[in-house]
Amino acid sequence: MAPAKDREQMKTSAVSSGGNVHVEFEDGIAWVAMNRPDKRNAMNPALNDEMLKVLDDLEVDDACGVVVLTGMGDSFSAGMDLKEFFRDLDDLPYTQQVHKRRSAWQWQWRQLMAYPKPTIAMVNGWCFGGAFTPLIACDLAIAAEEAVFGLSEINWGIIPGGNVTRSVVAAMNLRDAMYYVMTGETFDGRKAAAMGLVNEAVPKERLRARTRELAKVLLSKNPTVLRTAKVAVRAVQGMPWELADDYLMAKSHQARYLDPEQGRSQGLKQFLDEKSFKPGLAPMRRGTEGEI
Ligand code: COA
Repeated sequence: MAPAKDREQMKTSAVSSGGNVHVEFEDGIAWVAMNRPDKRNAMNPALNDEMLKVLDDLEVDDACGVVVLTGMGDSFSAGMDLKEFFRDLDDLPYTQQVHKRRSAWQWQWRQLMAYPKPTIAMVNGWCFGGAFTPLIACDLAIAAEEAVFGLSEINWGIIPGGNVTRSVVAAMNLRDAMYYVMTGETFDGRKAAAMGLVNEAVPKERLRARTRELAKVLLSKNPTVLRTAKVAVRAVQGMPWELADDYLMAKSHQARYLDPEQGRSQGLKQFLDEKSFKPGLAPMRRGTEGEI
């Protein structure tokens, strides 16, 4: 990503948005908010189409080093829009239903899970049903203690589809997943943190500050290595040990080859020769190879 002085000038770089998605830049952080607060940020096809485009643009926008996904107002998202995503489309021929709904799963898990930049879900309020998928597809998640989560599908006669169930079993243990899928009971941010659904929960007034703090930690890391590391975490989950070992070796070589900072050799030099840092305790000095 671009050095800090350049990012300063890029803060205003354009990201397409039709109004259902709001984007703000702040020193390398792109705050990306679902923006239908009057509808509790329920995700309709228009929002899904826009989010797909916004995230696509941010992938190559140097003003963005970390994406924070959140919601405007008091909600993260009340899930899929029960009118515009479900009822309004139900009578269309099946192929048209799929066509209009496709952008939902494209951004909610396909795009986010493979995203080349770090992503943090900041759960500021209501988080229901379909909102679990992008929540879990983000790399990290921080919730307000007061946020309310629920797999409410059972309460109105459907199962958690749209890969919600798949997401839930990836992030929650089996008993918790079963319990909340089967009862539809709500739980708060503290409970979400205790179950490991989010990394931590903080009082709502500290949510943005804590998220910013975490984003800055990520921004301080070597982006090539960070990208490779997060892709590898997801990829090895489904691999046998032998395959994972080989895959991780190949990814390590790939990161070394692609890294303009040559982090590995710089890290070894700074620790072994210069004795200028301790990698167990703090990050190394960064820059492109010639600048260090
Ligand atoms: N789809 C469509 N519209 C939704 C919505 C959803 N998932 N969630 C909220 N809305 C709309 C409401 O219909 C209402 O619209 P209106 O002002 O035109 O009547 C508006 O958002 C405000 O909702 P309201 O229920 O009055 O807000 P609240 O703060 O009292 O309650 C929730 C918030 C989230 C608890 C409640 O809206 C709710 O249960 N939503 C559905 C959650 C859900 O089951 N999601 C899973 C979908 S798969």
